[in-house]
Amino acid sequence: MDSRHIIATEQQYTSGLYPKRNIAIIGGAGARLFDAEGRTFIDCVGGQGAANLGHNHPAIVAAIQAQSTRLLNCPEIFYNDERAAYLAELAAALPFPARIFLCNSGAEAVEAGIKFARMLTRRPKIVAAMRGFHGRTMGALSATWESKYREPFVPLVPEFVHVAYGDGAALAGKGPNRG
Ligand SMILES: Cc1ncc(COP(=O)(O)O)c(C=O)c1O
Repeated sequence: MDSRHIIATEQQYTSGLYPKRNIAIIGGAGARLFDAEGRTFIDCVGGQGAANLGHNHPAIVAAIQAQSTRLLNCPEIFYNDERAAYLAELAAALPFPARIFLCNSGAEAVEAGIKFARMLTRRPKIVAAMRGFHGRTMGALSATWESKYREPFVPLVPEFVHVAYGDGAALAGKGPNRG
């Protein structure tokens, strides 16, 4: 499939939610990306901060290949050797004792943070920073600042307030359930 065909096909079927650059990527190596016509680009996006591993590093490819021949999926209702090792390694890298919630996206992590906070404190109010972006699910969106993301979806989750980032006095004034 050439780039024109890839772009036309995606344009026909995609939700349209994501503004796209007019290039179609079919491969990568290290910090480089390739389109169907063999043009090379330097990848300055870096997995949008979530998977900045470069492209096709031999060690990562080998690990994925090995695991894919053994087990592709194991929900958390079972224990799993690789997940156990990963959790232990991640916990060891943290500067404090921790339990770890694994999830699929930033918004899901924010949703979990909101729910953990409400469940543990039994207090409903969430204070977020002005100009912050936290995701597009309803809870994360309620913490997100910019109205272009929020307005199409009001009413959002109640009890969210925003203060200027770094403004300790404002934070104290808006603090959860202060009388
Ligand atoms: C700071 C921050 N939080 C949350 C999110 C939402 O992450 P996701 O798009 O994986 O749901 C983003 C995404 O850009 C982000 O930059």
